[in-house]
Amino acid sequence: MAINMFMFLVLLPIIFFSKSVVSISNFSLAKPNCKDHCGKIPIPYPFGLTEECSLNKYFLVTCNKISRYHRPKAYLMNSRTQISNISLNGQIRVLQEIAHDCYAPNGTFVSGNNPGITLPDHYTVNNTANKFTVIGCDTYGHVHTRRGHVHGSRGHNYMTGCAATCDTKDDLVEGSCTGIGCCQTLIPKGISFVEVKLRSFDNYAFVNDFSNCGYGFVVEESVFSFSPQKFANLRDGKKLPLVVDWGIKNESCLEARKSMSSYACKSSNSECSDPSSGPGYRCFCKKGFEGNPYLPQGCQDIDECKDPDLNDCEYHCENEEGSYKCSCPKGYHGDKDGHGCPRDEPREHDPELELKLKLVAGFALGIIALIFVASWTYFELRRRKLIKMKQTFFLQNGGLLLQEKLKKRDRSLLEMVKIFTSSELKRATNNFHESMIIGKGGYGTVYKGVLQDNKILAIKKSKEIDPSQIEQFINEFIILSQVRHRNIVRLLGCCLEAQVPLLVYEFIGNGTLYENIHTKDKSRFLSWEKRLKIAAETAGVLSYLHSAASTPIIHRDIKSANILLDALFTAKVSDFGTSRLVPMDRAQLSTMVQGTLGYLDPEYMQTSQLTEKSDVYSFGVVLVELLTGRKALSYDKPEEEINLTNFFLYTLRKDRLFEIIEGNIVCDETREQIIEVSKLAKKCLNVRGEDRPTMKEVAIELDALRLGGRNSWAKDEDDREEIESRFGEGLDSVSFSDDCSDSITVPG
Ligand SMILES: *[C@@H]1O[C@H](CO)[C@@H](O)[C@H](O)[C@H]1NC(C)=O
Ligand SMILES: *[C@@H]1O[C@H](CO)[C@@H](O)[C@H](O)[C@H]1NC(C)=O
Ligand SMILES: *[C@@H]1O[C@H](CO)[C@@H](O)[C@H](O)[C@H]1NC(C)=O
Ligand SMILES: *[C@@H]1O[C@H](CO)[C@@H](O)[C@H](O)[C@H]1NC(C)=O
Ligand SMILES: *[C@@H]1O[C@H](CO)[C@@H](O)[C@H](O)[C@H]1NC(C)=O
Repeated sequence: MAINMFMFLVLLPIIFFSKSVVSISNFSLAKPNCKDHCGKIPIPYPFGLTEECSLNKYFLVTCNKISRYHRPKAYLMNSRTQISNISLNGQIRVLQEIAHDCYAPNGTFVSGNNPGITLPDHYTVNNTANKFTVIGCDTYGHVHTRRGHVHGSRGHNYMTGCAATCDTKDDLVEGSCTGIGCCQTLIPKGISFVEVKLRSFDNYAFVNDFSNCGYGFVVEESVFSFSPQKFANLRDGKKLPLVVDWGIKNESCLEARKSMSSYACKSSNSECSDPSSGPGYRCFCKKGFEGNPYLPQGCQDIDECKDPDLNDCEYHCENEEGSYKCSCPKGYHGDKDGHGCPRDEPREHDPELELKLKLVAGFALGIIALIFVASWTYFELRRRKLIKMKQTFFLQNGGLLLQEKLKKRDRSLLEMVKIFTSSELKRATNNFHESMIIGKGGYGTVYKGVLQDNKILAIKKSKEIDPSQIEQFINEFIILSQVRHRNIVRLLGCCLEAQVPLLVYEFIGNGTLYENIHTKDKSRFLSWEKRLKIAAETAGVLSYLHSAASTPIIHRDIKSANILLDALFTAKVSDFGTSRLVPMDRAQLSTMVQGTLGYLDPEYMQTSQLTEKSDVYSFGVVLVELLTGRKALSYDKPEEEINLTNFFLYTLRKDRLFEIIEGNIVCDETREQIIEVSKLAKKCLNVRGEDRPTMKEVAIELDALRLGGRNSWAKDEDDREEIESRFGEGLDSVSFSDDCSDSITVPG
């Protein structure tokens, strides 16, 4: 089947190609080495242009050319009967003159003729295809015919005719030949002689204003159609076709077969046929063959399968000699005609088949059941594994640690945070998609998440399963679950069943303070007022953490990047991963040094003794950042400017403070406040922790500045003097306070 299909596909183009070749140029019409055309008229054997090429003299065709400029004309035998077409079906078309009969307006006969045609033996006029036709408005015509002029006898004569009249030209109807201007009549069967004669009733006396001629002819009915406009065209020597039947000899098939030598239909696949009337016998190719039945091997097989019009196979067609066979796919059988393909009816009670079917069905069922069981087991195992994994993660992520720590504390706090499921957070962050990342750092990644109720969250995802990181997460969780403050980013919940622990915060929309200071487009909008507000709020919350909360908390990583801003530029301190709870009974805590370079308390770096004053130092750096718009460490600056703290203190000593203050915050109204804050920053940046103010003092000072008051806590005279001498009118030789001398050596 596959091969057949293949061959069909491959042969298809060739079929189309060869089909045109066969039917147009490769059809053998004539005998070998014989011309098969006269001009454009095909001349098939038994006709021929020479005696050798034709069957006998009756089929000799004379091909005459008047000049090289004229198309040659074919004539039957040596007669003047012109042939226009020869068909092997037993017909030729001959062209015949039109008879006319014309009168002058005074009623005298002007011109007329009565053309006739005499056919040789073996030819008769076809009586069904032709009609005797008369055209005119005052005319009648008759046709003289003769049948069977066998062996020179005159045969039998017949005559028939009709009349056509009309009173006005308007009576004539296109295509209608019923007596008004046109009449038609049948002619007798088997005639071989025709002669047309025309007469007029009144010599056109009453119609000569529009008509003066009548016409008559025997014509192939299907090609002639009456038309009033074409009246005149019928003259001009025009000729009309007449269908003439022909046959071989004057014998019937039965008689012809007796003398095999002269029998015309002896070629293979050719058969003889007697016409219902008409002369002799004819040959035809058998059904399923085509070609010229009169030539040896002239009938060739028709490949019915190549032409869908020739076969009615539904499924597959197979050509055979003289016919074709339809075949059906397996399981179907051809119907009686071999065309349709109804399904095979199942054989009844074939025990062997039934057994086989049962076996197959059983086997299939077994496999299905097996697949079902296997997949159920797989999914169940996966489900259990997932649960187990989540439990492992929970433990690994410090779930127990958390539970334990929480047990000791106020249980109600735990109720304030929500435990999110991992799938919930996955959905909220579009499976932690890159486009949802809003922050990245050493601690991990912060994603923006949208819950189903459109609540926006920030979700902090630890970078990897690093136990120390997890500890930090738990730490942050515990600290944040204990503190509620409007300037601390709010922890909403957590998720421990994911591979890495996740913390869920309120979403703060305006980015970090770091971004807002160090991005040009944003810093323009960070006015002095806003900066002061942020500083005051941050100081306030640190002061709260250091003293107000039940157990003091040291943040340990205060920096501009850990201060978030909301739409109203409210500061929200975040990232409590490294924060420490300080037991009340211990003033100092020895820890591993943690924090961010540039913000780190130099004393803590040296001693590893953690106190609240470390946060004060870091906050001092943030103050300087706010004042100068410079980064804590800028490696792209000259060496003396890399460390902002040092450079700030240096400019302060050199009385060149306003050289490094952010330009767009300086104006007459802010100048004094800037000086105050700078002084405060300097105090915070004292190398000795003890000399730094507490966060509470800083917060009060900043609040006071915001509210327009003067500093409330550092009003001692020394300070005042210092301020006045340092920032007063052009005092050049200022002595710097001792605090700063060991951190920066003054050049010159
Ligand atoms: C054309 O006809 C000749 C002989 O009649 C035959 O040999 C040849 O194969 C035919 N060509 C095609 C394309 O059918
Ligand atoms: C000749 O006769 C054939 C068959 O009847 C027909 O298909 C063909 O069109 C005819 N040709 C002319 C020129 O009349
Ligand atoms: C009729 O007219 C034709 C030409 O129009 C003329 O030759 C003929 O002599 C006329 N006959 C009579 C009887 O007037
Ligand atoms: C056919 O014609 C031949 C002569 O051409 C004649 O001898 C013969 O008898 C005729 N046969 C019939 C059946 O007319
Ligand atoms: C006359 O022509 C028609 C149509 O072509 C044909 O069907 C009929 O067989 C012909 N008659 C004879 C006697 O051949």
